[in-house]
Amino acid sequence: MTYVVTGATGPFGRLAIESLIRRGVPAGEIRGIGRQIEKAADLGVEIRKADYDDPGALRDAFAGAGKLLFVSGSEPGRRLTQHANVVAAAVEAGVELVAYTSILNAATSTMDLAHDHRATEKLLTESGLRSVFLRNGFYYEVYTGQLPTYLEHGIAGAAGDGPIGGAARADLADAAAAVLTQGPERQVYELAAEVFTLATLAEVVTEVTGTTVGYAPLTGEQYREVLKGAGLPDEVADFVVGIDLGIAEGNLATSGDDLAKLLGRPPVSLREALAQ
Ligand SMILES: NC(=O)c1ccc[n+]([C@@H]2O[C@H](COP(=O)([O-])OP(=O)(O)OC[C@H]3O[C@@H](n4cnc5c(N)ncnc54)[C@H](OP(=O)(O)O)[C@@H]3O)[C@@H](O)[C@H]2O)c1
Repeated sequence: MTYVVTGATGPFGRLAIESLIRRGVPAGEIRGIGRQIEKAADLGVEIRKADYDDPGALRDAFAGAGKLLFVSGSEPGRRLTQHANVVAAAVEAGVELVAYTSILNAATSTMDLAHDHRATEKLLTESGLRSVFLRNGFYYEVYTGQLPTYLEHGIAGAAGDGPIGGAARADLADAAAAVLTQGPERQVYELAAEVFTLATLAEVVTEVTGTTVGYAPLTGEQYREVLKGAGLPDEVADFVVGIDLGIAEGNLATSGDDLAKLLGRPPVSLREALAQ
């Protein structure tokens, strides 16, 4: 059985490959795919170069693949065409199982970010491939990576009191490896370790660091001005504001324990992630 992992040159794919090995898959049965393949050279598995824009390279890269972890691309505006190439190559390779990294509530989410995920889930369903949708919550790292800014300026955002289903990236990658190695029990997994708001994030940051950090809830327009003032280009500021407004509408709400069940252990909490 050959396990193929796309996005192997990024943090999620790397963590998933490390988890597959920890879960007993021989390194010789794992193949990572990426563009900047030198980034994955130390993983100790076969790495092949393929761009999602290159159907021929994808076909070669997937040859002989048994199970595919399809890590969603990262280029807004191009992803859907790229993802269609990945699905077509998986069909051609006769892949037995595809696990795709989607977003929480992909079927109903009104966030722009969810559009490509929903469309990719549809492509997979219509392809006839046996597929699993790993609807990942937001990585804690999206927020913990901003800790120095929080400590200096506090937390600002337009997410209101919207719930954010989140988890450590490593736990989501481990869950992906679990689905591939154990076999899926169903098609859709909504994956989050816990649900927090920007206000509770501020409280946890305060508790963990001992520095009082507040949360300033802003309108979309106010937040856009803050981001632009911090030097973000207009389109990036719009993208970030759109995410927060989508959170305010409840698109990242979730309940249930899909992640803990897949992991077979409690996932890392936001507090632990911040402390680390
Ligand atoms: N849940 C969340 O909070 C969250 C946050 C950010 C992103 N995401 C999604 O989760 C995915 C994985 O997360 P990550 O942290 O590992 O993201 P990342 O650091 O952006 O890495 C993206 C990976 O996708 C590969 N990739 C992008 N475009 C590609 C293309 N055209 N052809 C082939 N490979 C391509 C990159 O390859 P190279 O490095 O070799 O170019 C890299 O390996 C992201 O791509 C994005 O869809 C989720």
